[in-house]
Amino acid sequence: MSRVAVVGVGYVGLPTAACLAALGHTVVGCDVDQIKVDKLNAGVSTMHEVGLDDLLHGARADGRLAFICSAPLAVMGAEFTFLCLPTPPCSDGSVDLSHILAVVDEIGPHLMAGSVLITKSTVPIGTSRLLAKRLNRSDVIVVSNPEFLREGAAVEDFLRAERVVVGADSAEASQSVGRLYAGTDAPVISVSPESAEIAKYAANAFLATKLSFVNEISAMCEELGADAGEVFAAVGADSRIGAGFLEPGPGWGGSCLPKDSAALLHAARSVELEPTLLRETIQANEQQFVRIADKVCRAVGGSLPGRILTIWGLTFKAGSDDLRMSPSLKIADLLIAAGASIRAFDPTLDGQAASLGADITLCPDAYSACEGSSAILVLTEWPQFGDLDLHRAATQMVWRAVVDARRVIDPAKAAAAGFTLDRIGSGAAEERGAGVKVAAA
Ligand SMILES: NC(=O)c1ccc[n+]([C@@H]2O[C@H](COP(=O)([O-])OP(=O)(O)OC[C@H]3O[C@@H](n4cnc5c(N)ncnc54)[C@H](O)[C@@H]3O)[C@@H](O)[C@H]2O)c1
Repeated sequence: MSRVAVVGVGYVGLPTAACLAALGHTVVGCDVDQIKVDKLNAGVSTMHEVGLDDLLHGARADGRLAFICSAPLAVMGAEFTFLCLPTPPCSDGSVDLSHILAVVDEIGPHLMAGSVLITKSTVPIGTSRLLAKRLNRSDVIVVSNPEFLREGAAVEDFLRAERVVVGADSAEASQSVGRLYAGTDAPVISVSPESAEIAKYAANAFLATKLSFVNEISAMCEELGADAGEVFAAVGADSRIGAGFLEPGPGWGGSCLPKDSAALLHAARSVELEPTLLRETIQANEQQFVRIADKVCRAVGGSLPGRILTIWGLTFKAGSDDLRMSPSLKIADLLIAAGASIRAFDPTLDGQAASLGADITLCPDAYSACEGSSAILVLTEWPQFGDLDLHRAATQMVWRAVVDARRVIDPAKAAAAGFTLDRIGSGAAEERGAGVKVAAA
């Protein structure tokens, strides 16, 4: 078992630290955020992630996991140091490496001779070599080990990973990093640092392309009288295509797909290639947000100024409390710009935690979010939304329309409660119509 430091304990770093400790390693997690570190040392998790609390409690009780603020102290004596730091986008789509570079400069002199510095952050192609040069330590090996976990299933994805990708120049370095994952049964794919770095971007760009394609076909289903659920059950049964990532939705978002697609586009253009498919994938996604906003406008009779609208689900996906680049917020912005105001509910957010604009009122439950509202928009695929009492919701509203961009509302229940339902990926256009007006609005 190894001594490991994890620098940056956010959505990637914290599950990484907890899972490595659960595999038996001794882990020190480090973060600049003192409040986060204090909470974690007090046994309070800083994010909503299934299974994480139990791992944190277990590892802390066994003395295999601690958190500190000092990166130099965290890496002292560590055989392996993971960088799980933010790599936000610059305005031109390129990647801001300042967090990574600052930490490498800070920890460089303190890394143990013979240790391995591992980049888990998603970084541009060539970053491993750049870091090795900057570090200027022939006794420290720099390795790329991109992370593929999904928020909302981070623990499961780490402990039952489908693959571990290690980008290194030597087989020995690759094997030593691969051994850290012993116990997960994940196959280790050893490649060059550049291949590891581009593999992460290619995987996310492929997923984004799949989603934009699904949304495009779903729009056709709506207009041509087919059902996207039936269509993609048939399409996904083909093992060359695969059944995952075939659900239509309000557009893709989150902290990774948008920034990583933009970064890959930028990388291609920097070598004078124009990736037309990737470019159109990104463009199609922007259009999807507009399409959903248009559906809402149509559902309430064609006019948004002065309307109150209800959003069920603000996070970018179910199972996570992450609001970064959430499609819900993108669509809310479009509706607000058109004159509407928003009442919203999300199971993981409370009023204090969420920093939302003044035009979005965060409500304590799904029903109070319907007060005075003209339409319910379902924008995150929380399964519990399907169990809500639509009759109760209807009593709060001045107009009864549902736009379900996640296909979680039962059409029969919506009809029984007097709602019109625009369900993404299904229904002939003429059946959707406008919502039902129940009072002067
Ligand atoms: N979120 C995901 O699902 C996911 C999946 C795969 C890869 N990634 C990549 O992993 C990286 C991290 O993403 P994230 O979502 O965990 O980000 P995050 O913002 O949730 O976490 C980053 C953490 O680093 C800390 N930090 C910043 N500067 C620091 C410093 N100088 N020293 C110590 N800590 C510092 C921040 O306080 C924060 O807690 C990014 O490159 C991202 O693209 C993310």
